Amino acid sequence: MRRKVIAGNWKMNNDLSQSKDLITKLINGLSGQQIHCDVIICPPFTSLSEAATLVKDTTVKLGAQNMYFEENGAFTGEISASMLKSAGCEYVILGHSERRTIFGESDELINKKIKKALQSGLKPIFCVGETLQEREAEITSKIIERQVVEGLKEISATDLNNIILAYEPVWAIGTGKTATPAQAEEVHLFIRNLIAKIYTKNAAEKLVIQYGGSVKADNAAELLSQKDIDGALVGGACLKADSFMAIIKSV
Ligand code: 13P
Repeated sequence: MRRKVIAGNWKMNNDLSQSKDLITKLINGLSGQQIHCDVIICPPFTSLSEAATLVKDTTVKLGAQNMYFEENGAFTGEISASMLKSAGCEYVILGHSERRTIFGESDELINKKIKKALQSGLKPIFCVGETLQEREAEITSKIIERQVVEGLKEISATDLNNIILAYEPVWAIGTGKTATPAQAEEVHLFIRNLIAKIYTKNAAEKLVIQYGGSVKADNAAELLSQKDIDGALVGGACLKADSFMAIIKSV
């Protein structure tokens, strides 16, 4: 039985004092509650150290939204895996569609980042997803297959244990247009079967695959009840403690 994982991707939102406020509300709201899933928050870099202090000794885990694959050096503006580790992160989101489209990240670059994160003891939340154009051209599975195969190139089955996969159809991100539970389940099952082909059936059964794209309190339960949907990667709805907690409680 896979344990569900609810992660909040804050994206480029919340300065330090807003971050402290949101995390404090979340921790207070969750304390003493029966939580049936893992909870991860991914604030911006500038809030990570403070966030690490606040979530220490709570059930909330910490992740970052991106990193670079080099250890250190002349890479102005970039952040390394060991910097994230030392700031207290356990997870890092990699391959998000906003990184792929706005910042031109390739499958090859994402693969390098995933490898470096794993070597450094960070757990990647590896995102894949098709655009509306690709869905309409009926090449969703081809696109997902390419992203999964290239992203996981030369990654061992042992390392796969430390990866969370997130299926985020680009057309559902920030649009209010959620994939139907059936549409999402179809792709999740496709991904799990693909992982079984690349690795083993056992590895595929163990892999946590989150859905992301306009997940809200009122659609989370139905999405999460699908056999191959093991959690959610939440954008907009994680920016308010109440709506994020409602999603957590729907598990
Ligand atoms: P929204 O929940 O705002 O659609 O964002 C989803 C997402 O991109 C999470 O990584």
